[in-house]
Amino acid sequence: PTPHSKFPSDSDTQSLFFSGRAERQKLLNQKGCVVWITGLSGSGKSTLACSLSRELYSRGKLSYVLDGDNLRHGLNKDLGFKAEERTENIRRTGEVAKLFADAGLICVASLISPYRRDRDTCRSMLPDANFIEARHHEAILIVFMNMPLELCELRDPKGLYKLARAGKIKGFTGIDDPYEPPLNCEVHVPEASKAIEIKQDGDVCP
Ligand code: PPS
Repeated sequence: PTPHSKFPSDSDTQSLFFSGRAERQKLLNQKGCVVWITGLSGSGKSTLACSLSRELYSRGKLSYVLDGDNLRHGLNKDLGFKAEERTENIRRTGEVAKLFADAGLICVASLISPYRRDRDTCRSMLPDANFIEARHHEAILIVFMNMPLELCELRDPKGLYKLARAGKIKGFTGIDDPYEPPLNCEVHVPEASKAIEIKQDGDVCP
């Protein structure tokens, strides 16, 4: 701003609000986007997030994993597992993922995100990857780990299903709290399979 001006000029305002998204994309040689992995506890979300991130790295692409369990130690440590707390958990994580995507990163979010309404909220924050315009901006892809409850419970990597069945954990997803499977996901990981069936034919994440 000029020394005596009360308000910044138009050009100052432009530089103050300069987003630089296109420059970041050029610098990183990639488009920012969000890959949102949803599924029951023990369905393999974190494993997939981790291998996806590794694979992207090996292809020279920068990604960052936001894991529900980890975020609950910091950003979301004030939240429990009541419906409204899960909703807030997903909303906050969605906002952070959006910022990462805007920064040009491929953000891999891995959360149970059990309620359809909350996943839709995240989708509405970012353009749907199935719309062609999304290819020029950040986009969100929903990945559904379609692992049946019986298998997740059989795996029970943290012993939480056992505790939930014994009534020692209340409101556990799949036991006494609902999981609403996606009706419209871009990627469907079929039950008990490591294969990934990609419905999307474009390359939103280059
Ligand atoms: S949510 O529903 O999206 O808000 O959950 P998320 O932030 O992904 O956290 C899930 C991890 O929390 C542990 N945990 C529970 N999960 C579901 N229900 C209840 N009541 C619960 N209590 C603790 C569990 O370890 C989840 O980790 P993952 O990696 O999914 O197994």
